[in-house]
Amino acid sequence: TRRVRTRDLIAAKERGERWAMLTSYDQYTASIFDQAGIPVLLVGDSAANNVFGYETTLPVTAEELLPLVRAVVRATKQSLVVGDLPFGSYEEGPAQALRTAVRFMKEGGCHAVKLEGGRRCAAQIEAINGAGIPVMAHIGFTPQSEHTLGGYRVQGRGEAAEEVLADARAVADAGAFAVVLEMVPGEVAKRVTAELAIPTVGIGAGPDTDGQVLVWQDMAGLRTGRAPRFVKRYADLAGALTDATRRFADEVRGGEFPAAEHTF
Ligand code: KIV
Ligand code: NA
Repeated sequence: TRRVRTRDLIAAKERGERWAMLTSYDQYTASIFDQAGIPVLLVGDSAANNVFGYETTLPVTAEELLPLVRAVVRATKQSLVVGDLPFGSYEEGPAQALRTAVRFMKEGGCHAVKLEGGRRCAAQIEAINGAGIPVMAHIGFTPQSEHTLGGYRVQGRGEAAEEVLADARAVADAGAFAVVLEMVPGEVAKRVTAELAIPTVGIGAGPDTDGQVLVWQDMAGLRTGRAPRFVKRYADLAGALTDATRRFADEVRGGEFPAAEHTF
């Protein structure tokens, strides 16, 4: 088995095959997802919330993300690893974007990068892709611009569908190999997916995209509390870990752990 390439994802679209993508930020999850056959892993800037405990994705830096990218790459054999460019590391223009993307490839060792923005980032996508670095785009709701978008809201309702379409065409024309569609109406995602030759990856974008992505802690139920409507929990890791932790602490208090077999 070899590592997934961007052309495999285009070929999957041509065959009408769907695929799953997950975020990963560490070696154990990366290795499990790799072995489970997840073709694309994203070291998301959502590490801001899900690893570092920030309120939003805005504060996280390349210095914080790069060690996580390296860990995920080292732990995988088959998954294509995408490094997410953090807020502030590509908005100034193509030169800044290319500089950051090169850092992610050299220091992070990932196989592609991702950035947020449609038409406004076309020049950045062109510059990065032109340097031989595959780019995944991200349009619709883009968390790094939540303050201009007015919070976590569905994008592309009604007339605004044309804006999403225009962004999708722009990133595809600029050379993106795939595009994430976040929180757009299912009908809009379906139109984008039918029109573009490159794969679409939905999160809160309905059932008709080529791929689906979730933050792994949401998918596996490690994050508890209110989750967005697009999240489905496939496990209760928070519950399992709480149980294990309580039993460990109980057994220490009760003198049951360590037993003879754990003792030298
Ligand atoms: O950072 C992230 O987790 C993402 C995905 C949800 C697409 O950008
Ligand atoms: Na992200």
